[in-house]
Amino acid sequence: MADTHISSLEVEARAFAPPSGFSAHAATMLDVHEAARRDPLEFWAEQARRLTWEQPFVEVLDDSRPPFYRWFADGRLNASVNCVDRHASERGGRVAYYFEGEPGDREQITYRDLKERVCRLANALAGLGVAPGDRVAIYMGMVPELPVAMLACARLGAIHTVVFGGFAPESLADRIKDCGCSVLITQDEAWRAGKRIPLKQNADRALASCPGVHSSVVVRRTGADVDWVEGRDHDYAQITENASTEFAPHVVGAEDPLFILYTSGTTGRPKGIVHSTGGYLTGAAATHSWVFDLRHDDIYWCAADCGWITGHTYIVYGPLANGATSVLYEGAPNHPSPSRWWEIVERYQVSILYTAPTAIRTFMKWGDEHLAAHDLSSLRLLGTVGEAINPEAWMWYRERVGGGRCPIVDTWWQTETGSIMISPLPGLTVTKPGSAGEPLPGINAAIVDEQGEPTGQGRGGYLVLTEPWPSMMRTLWGDDERYVETYWSRFGGLYLAGDGARQDEDGHYWLLGRIDDVVNVSGHRLSTIEVESALVSHPAVAEAAGVGRADERTGQAIAAFVTLIGDADGNEGLILDLRDHVAATIGAIAKPASVVLTDDLPKTRSGKIMRRLLRDVSEERQLGDITTLANSEVVEEIAAQARQRRSAGEDEE
Ligand code: WTA
Repeated sequence: MADTHISSLEVEARAFAPPSGFSAHAATMLDVHEAARRDPLEFWAEQARRLTWEQPFVEVLDDSRPPFYRWFADGRLNASVNCVDRHASERGGRVAYYFEGEPGDREQITYRDLKERVCRLANALAGLGVAPGDRVAIYMGMVPELPVAMLACARLGAIHTVVFGGFAPESLADRIKDCGCSVLITQDEAWRAGKRIPLKQNADRALASCPGVHSSVVVRRTGADVDWVEGRDHDYAQITENASTEFAPHVVGAEDPLFILYTSGTTGRPKGIVHSTGGYLTGAAATHSWVFDLRHDDIYWCAADCGWITGHTYIVYGPLANGATSVLYEGAPNHPSPSRWWEIVERYQVSILYTAPTAIRTFMKWGDEHLAAHDLSSLRLLGTVGEAINPEAWMWYRERVGGGRCPIVDTWWQTETGSIMISPLPGLTVTKPGSAGEPLPGINAAIVDEQGEPTGQGRGGYLVLTEPWPSMMRTLWGDDERYVETYWSRFGGLYLAGDGARQDEDGHYWLLGRIDDVVNVSGHRLSTIEVESALVSHPAVAEAAGVGRADERTGQAIAAFVTLIGDADGNEGLILDLRDHVAATIGAIAKPASVVLTDDLPKTRSGKIMRRLLRDVSEERQLGDITTLANSEVVEEIAAQARQRRSAGEDEE
């Protein structure tokens, strides 16, 4: 696997020393590294003491039943107290979020305000019968009520599962059913690029198949007229306006789940990643302060969506646990113009910006003139996450956004790891365009071959984490077996990340992409199986394969290969229809960029579709070994069809 990636890798020779303004950070982080090496458990205990515990923990790590590790298990705490109360009482007037709505409305939310809102909603949810341990689905756009909803659940000891607002009703329903949610928090509509996304309408469709949901709470964002189910639907403003601004936090055990977040896997059903309260919050707070060198006067902006793990850890839990002041932006980067982000940076004097390579590539495409008109001199640190960043985009980010003076932290981590695992430290690391630097203090990574042996410098292999860490996932919701099978069975005792990587002569990590078939579109992981299942659910489709192929704008785009049932008419209209069908079934993000109709798909003798070959076809590479195929003649045929479609220019948006 990874070896094929490596042979195509360019050697990147550029390197940038940390700027002198970060020297205090360097000194601190050297000590932190040293402490982690000296006594890892005492080190993590010390990090956990960043938090306020109602009952301090005695045991740091319980590793008696791997891979079901438990951290700080006899300690008790509440996440919302850590994120809100302790700042509200000490410096309540400090701004937690500068909210900027897409239409241009703005709001300053202090820690005191945040606490009041969280308590009001917690009271309202309790009034609807939400109890500790219950699951609550949150399906919203990026409005302040979204972090408030997450924190209100935490205050109650309920487990939230945030479903990205771009997902279609079926995806929402699947997730609600998988973890048995009883309440849904949503909004009438969300703003996106000037358009209204009908979240309530989608939610209603989802709830039609989710009888377990007895109540929904609806935030009025656009004020649109929406259908209303009496007895089930509740207006957010109405049920919170007279609620008390106090709510006694429900103290939970450190190992009690804080949330479940679904992520697409390689096989079928999405996986409900379960995160703990104490360990997760420890990892979120510690890494947020180390990697972003957080200072009191920073204005921090993570431009992700709370529907993904990046939003959970670096918009909500990490920054709030650290008492940071953040920007929260609701909408699209090009509304009303492609300079929107840079207006925001200038307006709030943003000093730390954290975003994804796909956004950076999009801005590159839109042109430098949109940045030139704005004063970006407040920026001092830039971060990226979600996929490997191409050196060209890294350099553009550094020069055009960072004015050549800001270090870039390319942070590698996953929904499963809970917080950043591998990243440069801005004061310490010589950064190289395209490299994620080294494992953070207390994190132990390695790159191994098929046999689980270290590959040695320069050679690509499987990225594994070799020791447990506090913010690690605890299991897959309701499926311990799949948790063990997916992450721990390949190399007994080592956590398999599923990514390929290599280490250079300085020990820096270079990520090489997924080792399985997951496609990463605009930084969002999508399973090809989900796309295929969506295609196959179309009445004309017999069989389908989806693979990722490189795309300048979105990182990867989905190329679909489809065989039709006997009498279906494979015309252009059908191809459009299939693409729309996928978008409607699992969300626009999964819409295939191209669909090639073919009489057959390449298969192994045991009947498995060989996606690797389809990737080769899609990216016009020399075909690899096809001797293991049951039907090798079909590959040439597909390649010819794909070429034909490309030359006709019909496969692009
Ligand atoms: C990829 C996002 C290269 C990787 C936090 C990982 C990256 C998956 C990077 C997790 C990076 C994330 N360089 N690849 N800096 N960051 N990835 O769960 O394949 O949405 O396994 O978490 O994104 O995606 P997830």
